[in-house]
Amino acid sequence: MSDELSQAIESASRLIVESTYVIALVGAGLSAESGIPTFRGPGGLWTRIGEPSMNGYQEFLADPSGWWKQQQDQQADPDRSHFRGAIEKAEPNAGHYALAELENLGILKRTITQNVDNLHYVAGSMQVTEIHGNRTKLRCIGCEARWHRHEFELGESPPECPECGSLVKSDTVMFGEPIPRSVLNRCFDEVDLSDCIIVVGTSATVYPAASFPQTVKERGGLMIEFNSNETPLSSIADVVLRCPTGESLPSVVKRIKEVKGL
Ligand code: APR
Repeated sequence: MSDELSQAIESASRLIVESTYVIALVGAGLSAESGIPTFRGPGGLWTRIGEPSMNGYQEFLADPSGWWKQQQDQQADPDRSHFRGAIEKAEPNAGHYALAELENLGILKRTITQNVDNLHYVAGSMQVTEIHGNRTKLRCIGCEARWHRHEFELGESPPECPECGSLVKSDTVMFGEPIPRSVLNRCFDEVDLSDCIIVVGTSATVYPAASFPQTVKERGGLMIEFNSNETPLSSIADVVLRCPTGESLPSVVKRIKEVKGL
């Protein structure tokens, strides 16, 4: 391990221990070591098939059944089926377990994740807010009620909400779709409470999630970046851990336990 990295692990561990309300903002980079391609950068899903249009949600609202059928037709698309195959067989990696342990230690108060892969829960995290939804769930676009996918008999068109009669769709947030109000409010509340945000494996290019670290910094809080590559946030980070999160996160948790004598 380079001196620079061990120094960064030491600084990050001490700043986290000295903070009172630590939250995490997580992106696809955390799940890369679980075999799920990221979206941008080399080999990213959007790099390969192009970013979806920002009108996706409007197209869904304009013709829900047509959109639903098109989704079923696209299932065969090799890039999408590769991505879906990877996400279906993925297991949490050491990075997911390190975040779950930091939560268990009472240090990490909330994980705001952009990932829809459900791996935080599989790793044992509980204080999780999924800002872009969860692929194993369905959600009503009216009353925001949620169900596990297997609770619904899915047919030729999107089901109707048994509570309010609105359309039910995948819980994952489409491009152009507003983040569900209850989810966004929870994120803003957590950011307001936080004096330290750890930013894990995100290119910090998609808003509103990418605004959270800046807000914590503007309010005098700390920001620690865990990312193999430079991002637009690197210049405002108090500490940067420039290596795979499957290595950096467990190392920081191990050092925190030593510092706290746990
Ligand atoms: N360890 C640490 N960082 C990594 C690793 C790794 N093993 N692998 C990749 N990264 C970093 C990359 O350097 C990059 O900064 O993870 C980031 C992944 O960026 P994106 O692919 O843009 O993913 P993310 O930031 O989560 O995208 C945000 O965009 O497409 C939408 O809804 C989608 O939630 C997603 C959102």
